[in-house]
Amino acid sequence: MPLVSMRQVLDEAAKGGYGVGAFNVNNMEQIQSIMEAARETQSPVIVQASRGARAYSQDRFLYHLMIAATELYPEIPTVLHLDHGNSPETCKSAIDMGFTSVMMDGSLMPDGKTPSTFEYNVEVTKKVVEMAHAKGVTVEGEIGCLGGIEDGHGSGGSGLDHLTDPAQAEEFVKLTGLDALAIAIGTSHGAYKFAKQPSGDTLKMETLIAIHKRLPNTHLVMHGSSSVPKDLQDIINQYGGKLKPTWGVPVEEIQLGIKNGVRKINVDTDNRLAITGAIRKVFMEKPEEFDPRSYMKPAREAMKKVVALRMTQFGQAGHAKDYTPIPLAEMAKKYEAVAV
Ligand code: 13P
Repeated sequence: MPLVSMRQVLDEAAKGGYGVGAFNVNNMEQIQSIMEAARETQSPVIVQASRGARAYSQDRFLYHLMIAATELYPEIPTVLHLDHGNSPETCKSAIDMGFTSVMMDGSLMPDGKTPSTFEYNVEVTKKVVEMAHAKGVTVEGEIGCLGGIEDGHGSGGSGLDHLTDPAQAEEFVKLTGLDALAIAIGTSHGAYKFAKQPSGDTLKMETLIAIHKRLPNTHLVMHGSSSVPKDLQDIINQYGGKLKPTWGVPVEEIQLGIKNGVRKINVDTDNRLAITGAIRKVFMEKPEEFDPRSYMKPAREAMKKVVALRMTQFGQAGHAKDYTPIPLAEMAKKYEAVAV
């Protein structure tokens, strides 16, 4: 089937009461890992590329790899999503290339670092909603700012610096008409989220629940949702790495989020850890190896295992067959009908 809109996948997930992992990619092997995991678990899937990933890969490569994925895995409903677009122009370039979903992160200024005003956020998000919906493309926005920095994007600092205000979230959705809302509840991008197992003081699940109460029909998005498992950290450190002790978002908390309106869960770091651990292991155990396939194959397999596990834990496993793809042109008509 062709690439589908994220709105279709999130609507379907809401009906089924499950969450859908959105996994970041930069190259062919990561796309292959995700598609293999999706086939193994029969899951719909969101593949996402940040601005950094688009620059690294020259995004036409990524786009065509994703078209290859739809040809090779025709039974898997697959979304191609822009992660953290920093301006309407960046979102437009992704839409023009064929992305079926974009994130306009107006919680930060176009420098991707400075927290913006509510008015600025509404203005740019609304602009992207108008542009994207005319083509049937989905829009994710963000209110409140995540902690940390990823690919040069992020407010830095702790995840608690710019938490989402539930009343403001409600107003933001009303004013912008977006499809999915990313919220800040204490998580950060990257491996170093929490200095110990998070509690209600550092991971604000009650804020998420309060937002869901106000916006029961809005698809919520949890960013910075890698669990940073100890076993993946240990493999890296066992084979010469130097990760400092760290904690991620426990899967049970994500599952609680899914019960409270979370439909999209962003995961990048866990896959980076899996890949790096597998490559380090080959380098340490077989220093004579120099064929990239000797370490890329185990790396691909290690990432596939993590993705397949998350697909099962988020509940999307087994749901690939539920979908009849809705063409983007039809999605555009649906948006137009609602707007009239
Ligand atoms: P992690 O760093 O927790 O994997 O988060 C990724 C993310 O939120 C991408 O937008």
